[in-house]
Formats: sequence, structure tokens, C-alpha cells
Amino acid sequence: MHVVMIAATAALGGLLFGYDTGVISGALLFLREAFHLSSLMLGVVTSIALAGAAGGAAIAGRLADRFGRRPTLLATAGVFVVGAIVSALAASLMQLLAGRLLVGLGIGGASMLTPLYLAEIAPARERGALVSFNQLAVTLGILVSYLIGYGFAASGAWRWMLGLGAVPGVILIAGMLILPETPRWLAGHGHADRARAALRRLRGRSADIEAEVKQLRADLRSDVQTLPQSRLGHAAARLPLIVGIGLAVFQQVTGINTVIYFAPVIFQASGLSSASAAILATAGIGVVNVVMTLVAIWLVDRLGRRALLLTGLAGMGLSLCLLALGFLLGSGSVLGWLTAASLAAYVGFFAIGLGPVFWLLISEIFPLAIRARGMSAATIANWLANLVVALTFLDLVDLLGRPGVFFLYAALTFGALLFARALVPETKGLSLEAVEALWLERASQKGRPLGPAKLLEQR
Ligand code: BGC
Repeated sequence: MHVVMIAATAALGGLLFGYDTGVISGALLFLREAFHLSSLMLGVVTSIALAGAAGGAAIAGRLADRFGRRPTLLATAGVFVVGAIVSALAASLMQLLAGRLLVGLGIGGASMLTPLYLAEIAPARERGALVSFNQLAVTLGILVSYLIGYGFAASGAWRWMLGLGAVPGVILIAGMLILPETPRWLAGHGHADRARAALRRLRGRSADIEAEVKQLRADLRSDVQTLPQSRLGHAAARLPLIVGIGLAVFQQVTGINTVIYFAPVIFQASGLSSASAAILATAGIGVVNVVMTLVAIWLVDRLGRRALLLTGLAGMGLSLCLLALGFLLGSGSVLGWLTAASLAAYVGFFAIGLGPVFWLLISEIFPLAIRARGMSAATIANWLANLVVALTFLDLVDLLGRPGVFFLYAALTFGALLFARALVPETKGLSLEAVEALWLERASQKGRPLGPAKLLEQR
């Protein structure tokens, strides 16, 4: 099986995450009626999955180190499938909440394990594209969920909306049963022969894998010497942790999911009063998200991570300012379409930069000894920040008005731009081991992590 096929199969993990992100807002309207939910309980139904996802990401990192990436991803998909079925069949609010919690645990685990798995099987020069298959699957999951939500809207078949999520979960399980464990995990756990066999499967019979095997061994040795207790608090881990957690929080507090969750409401408020215009515009947003992610996949190993991230952030910031201005000027059908255009531009710039590049970078910047746990930490931060934004958005709109909220997200986006400019290293084309060497070398020079400027200067 070719590495691209293997990556495409594993990337289904992203589909679970995207589908659930998109489907819940459509389903909520019907859940409200079916279970007589107050606004508070509606919030709980949404947030319990986000909180569960943070928990899933916390558990998955440890399990992935101990038992391997592959079995942990399999177990995660299993939990998700059970959660989707429990939610779909729920006869009481408690059962619905239990199902949503399981779904959350599953998507939280999958959201970190998928990029981790992809990064560890990919050859360095294609790693950006292959890891970003994950984000492509997330965006496809969101788009499919919009379409399914639309299809079932008239009948109100919320059980189908929630239950259909089990389908990609089952396909992922079937696929993972035949995929190999990652060579890096195998080599790090004393299974040199199996690591070699896995590399052979991934690179093809004719490829020369000896150089890669040698490199893996040398790196594992240096890892053991430098990070003897695999501590996240070690100096070599500190700077990647700051970058990973910082980007995680910025990916959410710059507002992407307010658009993903509330796009139809935003469109209606801006003057696209008919429901069908609002739905059409929302589907358009889903398509822009997918298409621009494809563009990112094409560019990320050519232009590099920094170029996409910085351009994407600048574009997001400007689009948010336009959006806020649109709201400031009032509503009307021309302004409604202006709003739609600036929202589409905002999503497009997210999809070309911060969307895929965040998940890619956190799969690349941590030394192997702490990779799974470092990714866990960043992923937990991402889901918690997602939760905070979901819980505060509507209150913030009441407090600051729509223009105020989107100016706030714009300001946070410019903050993210400064952060990324100062701290994010370029990892294009480097082997994961070379990325690791980059941090280790810097950290060991003076026994403490170097400042960002120094670090980049030395790249
Ligand atoms: C983010 C999600 C978001 C999605 C939108 C992902 O990278 O982590 O929170 O819903 O992109 O495409």
C-alpha cells in the first residue's frame, strides 16, 4: 500500500472530528424540542463534548506512548462509534449526555493521534502535505455535516444526524486494522526489526531504507541522553511547548468556530434574511474551507510553514476588520453579501494557514521522547480554548455588539501574527529528527532555552 493511501486512510480520524463539529449546531434545534432543553442545557450538550475532547486528548498521549499509535487510534475510533450510537439512540437526557461525552473523548483522542501518526509515517519532503490530509478530512467532515444537516432539516431526524457519524468511525477502524504501527514508535520500543519492516511497507520494496533506519537509531540514542526522564519540564521541551500551546489557543480565540457553528445566524443578522440564502452562503463557506485546504496542501512543502501561517494570519485579521466594519454599517442585502464575502475570505485565510499549519507544527516540533505528550498538551489547550469561545460568543455579542466581537477577534489575530513571527521555526523539508536536533542543540548550549530571536537567527 502506498504511503499516500495509508495517510488517506489514517486521515479519516479528521473526518470524525469535522463531522461532529459541524453537525451539532443543526441537531441542537431538534434536540431542544425532543428533550425540552433550556438554553443552559443546550450549552451543556455542546460543551460536554468539547470538555470530553480535552479529556480524550489528555489520555490519548499517554496511551499512545505506552501501547503504540495504532492501537490507541483504533481504541479512540471505537469509543467514538459507541458514543455516536448511544447519542443516536438516547431515550433520556442522561443517555444523550453520556453519548456526547464518549463522542468527545473519541474526537479529542483522534484529533491528536491522527496528525501524530501521519507525521511519523511520512517522508520529510512530503510531510506537510500528508499531515495536512488530516485538516482536509476535518473540513470535508464539516461540509458533509452541513449537507446532511440540510438534508434532514425538514424531517428533523436528529437521530440520523448524530448516528451517521459512526460510519466514518467504522471505516477508520477497518482501515487501521491493516495499517502498520509507526517506525518511530517501534524503534523507540526496542522493536528494530518491526520498525524496519514497517519502513519497508511505507517506502516500497525498492527504496533504500537503511539511511532512515540509521538516522532513527542515532536520534533515539541522543534523545535518551538529552531527555533522560522524558520530562515536559526539560529545557529542550519548553520552547516547543510554548509554541504548541500558544498556537493552539490562538487557533481558537481568533474565532473560527463561531463561524463554523453560527454561520447561518451571522448571515441572517447581516441582511441575508431568507433561510435559503443563509444556508447557501453557509455551504459556500464549507466549500471555501475545503478548497483552500487543498491549496495549502499543495503549497506547504513548497513555500514552507511560516509563509503560509503568516500570510494566512494577516489575511484573517484584515477580513475580520472588514466583517466588523460591515456590521458597523448596518444591514441590507448589499452589505449582507459583503459580509458573506469577508467571512469567506476569513475562512479561506484560516484554511490556508492557521488551520492546517497548527496541527502540522505540533506534530513536528516536539522531540520524540515527549512528542505524544507535547501534542496532548497542545491539543488539550486547543479544545479548552474552543470551549471557552463557544461558551462566551453569544454573551460577548450582547456585551460588545457584533462589530466589537469581530474587532476583538481581529486584535487577537494580529497578536497571533506577532507571536508566530517571533517564535515559529521553519520545519519544511527537515526530518523530524533534525527538527528535534534544532531545539536540543539550542537548549543545551547554555543549559537553558534560547530566546526566539536567537533561535531563528541560528536556523
Ligand atoms: C480546528 C477546528 C475547526 C476547523 C475548521 C481545525 O483546524 O482545530 O476547531 O473547526 O479547523 O476547519
